[in-house]
Amino acid sequence: MSRVFVLNGVNLGALGTRQPEVYGNLTLGDMERLLRVEFPNVDLEFRQTDFEGEMVRFVGEAAGSDGLIINPGAWTHYSYALHDALEATNVPKVEVHLSNIHTREEWRRVSVISPSVDAVVAGMGPGGYVAAVGYVLMRGAGRSQGST
Ligand code: DQA
Repeated sequence: MSRVFVLNGVNLGALGTRQPEVYGNLTLGDMERLLRVEFPNVDLEFRQTDFEGEMVRFVGEAAGSDGLIINPGAWTHYSYALHDALEATNVPKVEVHLSNIHTREEWRRVSVISPSVDAVVAGMGPGGYVAAVGYVLMRGAGRSQGST
């Protein structure tokens, strides 16, 4: 069974009540349920933290798994520590944002995380998480068939 980490960073625990006009009405618990229904045969390691060091530890724990999906929240825009942790973790990695960060404030358009991941999804809401897990699984299928 594939093991995939789904990591949510700072302030994402408040989903559901936090700016629903931007982030939608689903809570993080709803999101987890949605992913478990979509991917019943995947061992999903679903986690959230508001502490940067703890997130760095989660990323390290994902080494040896089949991949990781990360929504770093505001850390996206300035955490070189998270960039370095991701760069050091050699599994398929996807950065996900519920909102389209490129249509928002200037400072949100910069991601210091993007250079350290394989793919970025922004603006698809909860569907972005589903797409990201799908991508990671596809990468794993490619590996088991002998391609890169
Ligand atoms: C976010 C976008 C970030 O700019 C913001 O700080 C978040 C959520 C998103 O999912 O759209 O906390 O990552």
